[in-house]
Amino acid sequence: ATTLGASAAQTGRYFGVATAAFKFTDTPYMTILNREFNSVVPENDMKWDATEPQQGRFTFTNGDRLVSHAQSRGMTVRGHALLWHAQQPSWAQGLSGSALRSAAINHVTQVATHFRGKIHSWDVVNEAFADGGGGARRDSNLQRTGNDWIEAAFRAARAADPGAKLCYNDYNTDGINAKSTGIYNMVRDFKSRGVPIDCVGLQSHLGTTLDSTYQQNIQRFADLGVDVQITELDVQQGANQANIFASVTRACLAVARCTGITVWGVRDSDSWRTGQNPLLFDANGNKKAAYTAVLNTLNAG
Ligand code: G3I
Repeated sequence: ATTLGASAAQTGRYFGVATAAFKFTDTPYMTILNREFNSVVPENDMKWDATEPQQGRFTFTNGDRLVSHAQSRGMTVRGHALLWHAQQPSWAQGLSGSALRSAAINHVTQVATHFRGKIHSWDVVNEAFADGGGGARRDSNLQRTGNDWIEAAFRAARAADPGAKLCYNDYNTDGINAKSTGIYNMVRDFKSRGVPIDCVGLQSHLGTTLDSTYQQNIQRFADLGVDVQITELDVQQGANQANIFASVTRACLAVARCTGITVWGVRDSDSWRTGQNPLLFDANGNKKAAYTAVLNTLNAG
């Protein structure tokens, strides 16, 4: 096939992109979005600060615009992210203990209920593990409400939208390391105790090399009985960029439960990684070598 989405669909997968409602008036941008991708995720529009700027007052305008555009084009939607230590509204940053816990769970319930039936997969909890060697949870206001905050969030999300796949999402998990092993152990524990979890998101914000255990790491999560999704892929520009994009794609195709890939923006100029040109299209919307490498890999799979 000749586009990323159609090529991924040949093996039952999706190929998605992070987007934002404010970009929908950019015609060259929308031409690429609509042509190439069959899944979208809001880069910011469904985060806590965006959806509940004041406690108990929800604003879904941008999220709804994104969902309705996706529906009109037959694209699926990833939801991102119900709970995260970053991009919390200031009122939540000022809470702690049981007040924060109940506000957080209410947030999960309200947002997942609003979008019920429209979300393919939710990032229920984002980035709750620490970097470095310990494989431990990250300290945060949410973590300080009790270690069970993650499972409480997953249970609330399941109750609110039983049809959505519920994911745990994190970065620096691009190989077998202490952080990914900490997450692996949590998922194994959740599966053994019946905590509802369906998928693990590997963000895959990558530099100039790819961990040699990237595919093995995907496989070990799949072997726990969860899907794996590559959720925020971007790769620092350099001699290896196209090869790394291709290797990530090949690794996902090699694991049956790796069900889709999302890149974190359309053009280099849309990326949060200013100056790194980490995406598949250049600022003028031209296909880069990395694009061709991904497309060819999808069609070889
Ligand atoms: O919306 C305001 C705007 O009103 C204001 O004028 C402007 C001035 O700085 O800021 C705008 O908000 C920015 C927002 O993006 C929307 O553009 C924030 O400052 C900026 O911090 C925010 O950055 C986002 C970042 O998450 C926040 O942590 C990036 O766009 C987004 O790509 C990035 O995405 C995260 C994932 O959610 C989780 N994984 C890592 C990934 C990269 O950091």
